[in-house]
Amino acid sequence: MEQTFVMIKPDGVQRGLIGDIVYRLERRGLRLVAAKLMQVSRQLAEKHYEEHRDKPFFGELVSFITSGPVFAMVWEGQGAIAVVRQMMGKTNPQEAAPGTIRGDLALSIGMNVVHGSDSPESAAREIALWFGGETPLKYERSM
Ligand code: CMP
Repeated sequence: MEQTFVMIKPDGVQRGLIGDIVYRLERRGLRLVAAKLMQVSRQLAEKHYEEHRDKPFFGELVSFITSGPVFAMVWEGQGAIAVVRQMMGKTNPQEAAPGTIRGDLALSIGMNVVHGSDSPESAAREIALWFGGETPLKYERSM
């Protein structure tokens, strides 16, 4: 079954949006298989966002993601990567459709409350990076 990495960023945690975001993903039928509330180190932030290293906003991005706790998760389900991307809405919340997480809960591209893997390759890389030493739970859905 497909898995994707999802992170509620420091703005989402500070604003008390963990429950809202988890609620949406659960109701859609995705299954939470790993989660942790954690303070991100500079080293982890730089690795996570390494594809953006040359972008002008890289420094700002790393500072923001290390500014407070994040809620890191692995979600599983059919087409989980694309489904989560669709549910998050466009990266820039001002362009995100109402009904999406960013379209309902955010305004700024820097503080866009949530991150989700954008491809099977990045999902595999991000799950290994954030949960490498841990094995996501396997459990059958009975309902
Ligand atoms: P995310 O999905 O976490 O992946 C990279 C992040 O970079 C993105 O969400 C945005 O929060 C952030 N980002 C993208 N463009 C900009 C920008 N122009 N200024 C600041 N942050 C940006």
